[in-house]
Amino acid sequence: MAYTKCWLAYPAIAGAACADLTVSVEGAGPILDSARAELARGLAGLYGAALTDVADGDIRLGVDTALDPEGYRIHAENGRCTIEGGSDTGVLYGVFALLRAAQMAGCAWKDLTVQEEKAPANRMRMLNHWDNLDGSIERGYSGESFFFKDDVVLVDEARLADYARMLASVGINAIAINNVNVKHAATWLITDRYYAPLRRYLEIFGAYGVKIYLCINFAATMDLGGLDTCDPCDPAVAAWWKEKAADVWANLPDLGGFLVKADSEGRPGPFTYNRTQADGANMLADAVAPYGGHIIWRCFVYNCQQDWRDTKIDRACAGYNAFMPLDGQFRDNVTLQIKNGPMDFQVREPVSPLIGGLQHTHIMVEFQIAQEYTGQQRHVCYLMPWFRQILDTDLRTRPDNGTVAALIRGAGNGMAAVTNTGNDDNWTGHDLAAANLYGFGRLCYDTTLDPGAIADEWLRLTYGDNPPVEQTLHSILMRSWPAYEKYTAPLGVGWMVNPNYHYGPNVDGYEYSRWGCYHRASFDGIGIDRTPSGSDYCHQYAPELAEMYASTDTCPEELILFFHHLPYDYRLKSGKTVLQHIYDTHFEGAEEAARFYDEFMGLKPYLDEETFARMEARFAHQKEHACEWRDVINTYFYRKTGVEDAHGRKIYH
Ligand code: GCU
Repeated sequence: MAYTKCWLAYPAIAGAACADLTVSVEGAGPILDSARAELARGLAGLYGAALTDVADGDIRLGVDTALDPEGYRIHAENGRCTIEGGSDTGVLYGVFALLRAAQMAGCAWKDLTVQEEKAPANRMRMLNHWDNLDGSIERGYSGESFFFKDDVVLVDEARLADYARMLASVGINAIAINNVNVKHAATWLITDRYYAPLRRYLEIFGAYGVKIYLCINFAATMDLGGLDTCDPCDPAVAAWWKEKAADVWANLPDLGGFLVKADSEGRPGPFTYNRTQADGANMLADAVAPYGGHIIWRCFVYNCQQDWRDTKIDRACAGYNAFMPLDGQFRDNVTLQIKNGPMDFQVREPVSPLIGGLQHTHIMVEFQIAQEYTGQQRHVCYLMPWFRQILDTDLRTRPDNGTVAALIRGAGNGMAAVTNTGNDDNWTGHDLAAANLYGFGRLCYDTTLDPGAIADEWLRLTYGDNPPVEQTLHSILMRSWPAYEKYTAPLGVGWMVNPNYHYGPNVDGYEYSRWGCYHRASFDGIGIDRTPSGSDYCHQYAPELAEMYASTDTCPEELILFFHHLPYDYRLKSGKTVLQHIYDTHFEGAEEAARFYDEFMGLKPYLDEETFARMEARFAHQKEHACEWRDVINTYFYRKTGVEDAHGRKIYH
C-alpha cells in the first residue's frame, strides 16, 4: 500500500463539483509555486476543478508586507477569493487555511464565504525527530526513519515533499532531522560525507517554509576534529567550531542551526570542564552567528547516576538549578529548550518552573507527541487537551500575563515537539496519533485554539464529511488522555513503567534505579515530599504557586502525589481515600478503554476495510493492556495495604 495522505487527502465535497477555476499569482519563487500547486491539488480533490493561470483570476495570491511575515488574510465570497500573506510563506499558510475552511464549510465553491486574518502566536514551531542514521528511531512507534537508513541520508523525494506539505499545512516552520543523542555516523552529518543529500532536504523543505536543523555532538572537536578536548573555553575548540560553521553554511546555506543535548544522559558537555551551560551554548552561538545560525540548547540536564537511598537529591529540581543562575547570559541567537515538566513527558506533571523563571533568555517549550509515556501510539491518547492546559498555566512570574502561552511569544521563542512519525504507511502507527501531529502544529500557530475544535478539523480533513466517524472518534479522542491517566500512575506521581522501553506497568520499575524517578510507595503511604520538609522543589515557583503546591489543602489533587507523601487513608476532596481513589480510577480507566473498543466497532460500515482493521487491532490491544495496568497497580497497592476495594471488585491477591 502507498502511504496515506493523512489530512491532505482532499476528499470530494458531496454535490459540490464545480467548473474549472482560474488563479493569478503575484510574484514568483519556490514557496509560491508550492502554494499554487497546493491550491490546485485541493480544488481538484474537493470540487473536481482544474486550475489555470490568468491575469485576473477567480483566486488571487499575493504578498502584503503589512501583514505578519507568517500571517495571512483570506477573503472569499461569491466564487472569488483573495489570499494575501505577509511573505510567500504567509501565502502558503493562507492557501492551506482556505482549503481547511472549505472542508469545514462543506458547501459549493460559489457559496463559500471566508473572512480570516491570522498571525502566528509563536515564531518557532518545531518538530524534533529522534531519528538515527541507521534508520531506527529513538522512541519511535511508527516504523523506521524516512530520513536515514544504513548510515545513508535517504532522499525519497515524494515522501519528503508530502511530509513538508503536511508540516506547512499546520504551520510547522522548523524540524531537527536527527536524534538529540548524536553518536556514530550522526556526528558526521556536519561533514561533506552528507552535504549533498542534505542540500536537497534544504530545497524540498525550504519550498514549504520549513527550516532544517541538525543535532550536533558537543564532542565533535574530538570525534571529528582530532582535538583532545571539547572544553568550550579552549580557544582551539572555539576556532574549530568557527571553521566548521563556515564550512557547514558554505554547503548548507539555509540551514536553521544546531540543536544540542549536552551534559545529559551520558552526552558530553561543558560540565566536564567545569564550564557552564552558557559557556557551551555561547561558544557555538558565536561560531554560527555570521551565517544567521541559531543554537537551540536543551535544558534536560540532570544527574542520571542518582542513588535511590539518598532522598535529598530530587531530579525535579535539576533543570532550574542548572539554568536559572545563567538567565541573561545567553547570546541572542541561543534558545533554551525546556521540557514542559520537570521530569520527562509523563501523563501529568506540573509545568516546569524554569519556563516562568527565565526572564532574559529565549525559550522554547518542548513537548512530546511521540507517546513514549502515554501509550506509545498503540493506545489512543490525544494530547492537545493536556498541552492546552500547560499553555494556559499562569506561572505568576510576570506582573501582567504569566501564562506559558504568553511567555513563549516573541522572537527566539516558541514550541517544539518530539515527533511521532515514521515510515509506516499511515505515518504515525495508530491512525489517531496523526491527530497529535496535526493538533500540535495548529496549537503552536494559535495557542488559543480549542482542542475539541482541532480534533473536529482533523477528523473532517482526514475522513471527509462522515458524521458517525466524526462523532464517535471525536468523543474517543477527547476522552482518551483522561482515560490513560486513570489506568496508569496515579495523582501525578508518574513512571511505574517498565524500565528502558517504558511500556506497560511495572510499579517499582524505576524505584531502586539511578534515574531519579521514584514514587516512594511504602507501608505508610505514597508520593514524594517536595515541600520544605522534603526537597522543597515547590519553592522553585513564584510564591503564590509555591504556597499552593506546598499545602495539601490547595495543591491540585491531580498532582498531589507529585508534591506530597500521603498516607493511603488520606481523604481527598471527593471524600475517597487515596487508596480507594487509586482502585476506582483504575477500574474506571479500564472500563473506558473497553468502551472505546466497543464504540469503535460500530464504525465498521463507515471506514474502509484496511483502515478499520488497522485501528481495530490497536483498540483491542488497548482494551486488554488497560486491564493489565489496572490489575498490576491495584494488586500492588492491595499488597502494600491489605485493604480491599470498598466495592468488592476483583483485585488479585
Ligand atoms: C527521555 C527518553 C530518551 C531521550 C531523553 C531526551 O529520557 O527516554 O530516549 O533521549 O528523554 O529527551 O533527551
